[in-house]
Amino acid sequence: MSDFLRSAWYPAGWSRDIGDAPVSRRILNEDIVLYRKSDGAVVALEDVCPHRLLPLSFGKRKGDALECGYHGATFDASGRCIRIPGQELIPANARVRAYPVAERMGLAWIWMGAADRADPSTIYDLPQYHDPEWMAVEGDALPVAANYLSLADNLCDPSHVSFVHLSTLGNAQSEDVPVQWEMSEPEKKILTWRWIIDAPAIPLFQKFGGFAGPVDRWHYYHYHAPNIAVIDFGSAPTGTGAPEGRRDNGVQIYACHFMTPVDEAHSIDHWQFVANFKADEATRQSMIENFRMAFAEDKLILERIEANEQRMPERRPLRFAMDASPVRMRRMVADMIAAERSVGHQAA
Ligand code: FES
Ligand SMILES: [Fe+2]
Repeated sequence: MSDFLRSAWYPAGWSRDIGDAPVSRRILNEDIVLYRKSDGAVVALEDVCPHRLLPLSFGKRKGDALECGYHGATFDASGRCIRIPGQELIPANARVRAYPVAERMGLAWIWMGAADRADPSTIYDLPQYHDPEWMAVEGDALPVAANYLSLADNLCDPSHVSFVHLSTLGNAQSEDVPVQWEMSEPEKKILTWRWIIDAPAIPLFQKFGGFAGPVDRWHYYHYHAPNIAVIDFGSAPTGTGAPEGRRDNGVQIYACHFMTPVDEAHSIDHWQFVANFKADEATRQSMIENFRMAFAEDKLILERIEANEQRMPERRPLRFAMDASPVRMRRMVADMIAAERSVGHQAA
């Protein structure tokens, strides 16, 4: 059995990418077909026709149902077969699994656990996303050929920024600043952070922050197990009290990473950012390009690591002080999976 937590909401895709025509996504190693009903609600069904196993995504929407592209068996939004051409009787086992779906922050989220335990109010939501004073900008669905926990390692790890993202999110002044962390076991959260005091602004903020002198820079990495990482980072002129909490005169961005495990060795990083300032379209596009460049740098590193892990499965990583959060993150997810199995909630 795959090592995934089933009782969780995972992004199935950007809402903007789901319409009338069926689209296929692999999530936790299961193929799922998504489409919208006439009332706009998103449907998620197992993407396998029970007749001859053709993916249902090869078919087409008929009313609010989905017609298989091979012999026309038709399934309603609950997964029940409502038509088999050429026969009256529809066997009870002619059905496909239906998954709960809800939309939030521009994404369609799918619940992969037992359907009766799906509670859309538990889907992550960032208050600033809804604040008209802030600017929310959608990014991409970035495929990464690595296990999603490797991506989560990276997103509990402010220290790599000083080495990997020198043209965008980091600079060398922060190389030796240690990270701090705290964990909330009941809430399944880990916070990892550090401050870089009295240093030049990072390249992104030199472009978009308008800073003339040195800044105090913060990075708060909020991880919500198993698949949410929201990075609050920003800068304010040194001496204006940002470390004490006065951050309104600074530039602040929440970089949101909503991860979808595709299978053991592939994941999707659905990223977007929410900033405390407004920008014109050209500036927004330029910011997107900067983030795209930065996350492509992470992707390259994570894919090389994944390849080495597969090539050398006996090698165990060495742990440094900076790894405190990632180590606890993995333990937290493993404990959640074990707890889920022990109560039998992983099944459909
Ligand atoms: S494979 Fe779907 S109806 Fe035959
Ligand atoms: Fe990174």
